[in-house]
Amino acid sequence: MPSYTNSITLYEETRQHLAGGVSSNVRYASVPVPLFFARGEGPRLYDEDGNVHIDYILGNGPAFLGHAPPRVCAAVAETLALGQVFAGQHVHELELSRRLTALLPGAELVRYASSGTEAVQMAFRIARAFTGRSKIVKFEGHYHGWVDSVYVSVRPSGNEAGPAEAPVAVSDTTGVAPGAIADMVICGWNDLDHLRRALESNKGQIAAVIMEPMMVNGGVILPRPGYLEGAKQLCAEHGAVLIFDEVITGVRLGLTGAQGRFGVIPDLTIFAKAVAAGFPMALVAGRRDIMEIMQTQGVMHGGTYNGNVQSMAAAIATLDILTENNGALYTAVEARGARLMDGLRSLAAKHRMPMHITGVPAMFQTMFIATPPANWRESSLLDRDRALAFSTALQENGVRVNQRCAWFFSAAHDDVTIEETLAAADRAFATIS
Ligand SMILES: Cc1ncc(COP(=O)(O)O)c(C=O)c1O
Repeated sequence: MPSYTNSITLYEETRQHLAGGVSSNVRYASVPVPLFFARGEGPRLYDEDGNVHIDYILGNGPAFLGHAPPRVCAAVAETLALGQVFAGQHVHELELSRRLTALLPGAELVRYASSGTEAVQMAFRIARAFTGRSKIVKFEGHYHGWVDSVYVSVRPSGNEAGPAEAPVAVSDTTGVAPGAIADMVICGWNDLDHLRRALESNKGQIAAVIMEPMMVNGGVILPRPGYLEGAKQLCAEHGAVLIFDEVITGVRLGLTGAQGRFGVIPDLTIFAKAVAAGFPMALVAGRRDIMEIMQTQGVMHGGTYNGNVQSMAAAIATLDILTENNGALYTAVEARGARLMDGLRSLAAKHRMPMHITGVPAMFQTMFIATPPANWRESSLLDRDRALAFSTALQENGVRVNQRCAWFFSAAHDDVTIEETLAAADRAFATIS
């Protein structure tokens, strides 16, 4: 049984100085306290008690190349002495923009932000300016950042959220101005009829439809065949801008993200996290006629750290790694991630645990649920107590997944790591079954 004495002491001390002891509420979701890590390397994290964790949280996604990827770190280190922010332009920004517009089919222009949350706000502003409309369709269970306008119906409980066919917008935090979510139209995901009804009953008022094209935050769930294509068609018919929030899926599900994997190109795309391997960077990319209104119609977007030298250098080095040898890295991730999924499936069967694995090798979830879900309302039925028990038992055996048992996989998880993980999972299943 690992000891967490040092983390507990450090956390108690931190709480005396740092509100709540964390800088992001997501980090509360850890037992016995938010753990303190001394360092990360490849697929492993080393905590302040000397415990080693095979990490499948990966900073909630960015560490797709593993922790402290040497080539990215070296590329960033090379730029440190140049400076960080110039309140002006530099060639790394040009280089990255050239690379991204060549890479992403729908990216005729890009613009950088420093976090996914900010990039989403930028996309909303662009879509509203482009269409002259104000409402946004958002899906239950999807997360697009923590700010007032969009932290809505992320994890609504059944009794607050109203009937599935007519969901009520539920603000998931206190402290939000009452009018902040007035323009959000809430829909069930993976259901074209529902989206059609939402667009028709708000005819001429919807500026944008935003979604995680593979849902991750409310349960890792694939889009139904034809759903993304249908959503694109509906948006086109109604003059609404389709935004894919690929903050997690971008470069993770493939070099061109979920849109490349599923073959549907949205009007605007948001990438973040894995694209800069852990350095703070996000981007909005999209159609030229939409993006260029930033210039032609004076759409304000700012940010002191946007396009900073180190984040640009990190993203360029990341793209170098992802694109070499015809994307061989993705072939390896697919094969190894699939091995891990198969191994976990066999172990669940061996221990007679009712478990489904949803998602794809680079990002999946082990769900204790009777039927694989198609949307938030269905995924909210998963057995959370069992998920927590499993994630806790895994942690005790040196494997770190989040409390929903979502697994972020990386290019650094090699065959040896997978074997160790499966041995740990065998013990964890034995503990909870
Ligand atoms: C799909 C999605 N969109 C937006 C965000 C917000 O990004 P950030 O935490 O960088 O603000 C997240 C964060 O996890 C996310 O998963």
